Amino acid sequence: MRLDDHTVVVTAAGRDFGRALAIRLADLGAQVILSARTLKAAERTRDEIHDRGNPRVHAFACDLTDPASITHFVQQVAKTTDHIDVLVNNGARWLQGEDLLTVSDADIIDTLASGATGTILATKNFLPLLLRSDKPDIITMISTAGLAGHSRSNAHDAFYSAKNAQAGFTEILSKRLRPQGVRVISLYPPDFNNADPLAPDWHTTPRGPTDPLTSQSLIECILFAIGQPRDCFIKSFHFEEPV
Ligand SMILES: NC(=O)c1ccc[n+]([C@@H]2O[C@H](COP(=O)([O-])OP(=O)(O)OC[C@H]3O[C@@H](n4cnc5c(N)ncnc54)[C@H](OP(=O)(O)O)[C@@H]3O)[C@@H](O)[C@H]2O)c1
Repeated sequence: MRLDDHTVVVTAAGRDFGRALAIRLADLGAQVILSARTLKAAERTRDEIHDRGNPRVHAFACDLTDPASITHFVQQVAKTTDHIDVLVNNGARWLQGEDLLTVSDADIIDTLASGATGTILATKNFLPLLLRSDKPDIITMISTAGLAGHSRSNAHDAFYSAKNAQAGFTEILSKRLRPQGVRVISLYPPDFNNADPLAPDWHTTPRGPTDPLTSQSLIECILFAIGQPRDCFIKSFHFEEPV
């Protein structure tokens, strides 16, 4: 599969899954526009992609808790390209703790602002650029914590709330954007192993039936979904919990 005719935006690509996805998309030829909370982190991933031979990569800062930062990011992207084909809503702050009382009010606000409000504002602000594409897709990394009734994670209640907000948002958006040909594709993974695509373990991570889900497999799900013909509106990916 080649993505030379795709322009893709990935949020929170300074580390872990967002970085791995940005690198893999660039390896397949996509023009990659990536953000991270700090410009320095975004530029680090950009430089890694440059070093692998893809010059079509742009790095910006975007703090998803800050509406002005999101609109500034989108304005900068609009100066770089007249359309985008794929938006990956990857960024969301993780917050651990099974006791509501154990975290500060500020941490709760930050968790909801990055995962919930940040996802909605990024999608809203990028939508005009997506609508100029002939193959627009919105991918959102949710979590099993975004599933109604789920309780297996040790995530804090605020993280559950942020992920449920993403789930509610993408559910209605998928229906409402379908007439315009925009596919809204959500992934609901349990905990997964974040391998480094530039390290040897990318090729050696165990991926058998009793092993934890891997970022490699999630990236393959995303590539599968965006590679489908335009009549195929895959809405969500769900995964069995680990044994
Ligand atoms: N890893 C898992 O097991 C798992 C399971 C299910 C779902 N997910 C979801 O999959 C996505 C990627 O997972 P991951 O493992 O890469 O997550 P992660 O290791 O927790 O990294 C979170 C990312 O979000 C960024 N972020 C946090 N707050 C931000 C803000 N205010 N503005 C911009 N970026 C912000 C972080 O940037 P900084 O480097 O600046 O902190 C980091 O890049 C997330 O949405 C996560 O919730 C992960």
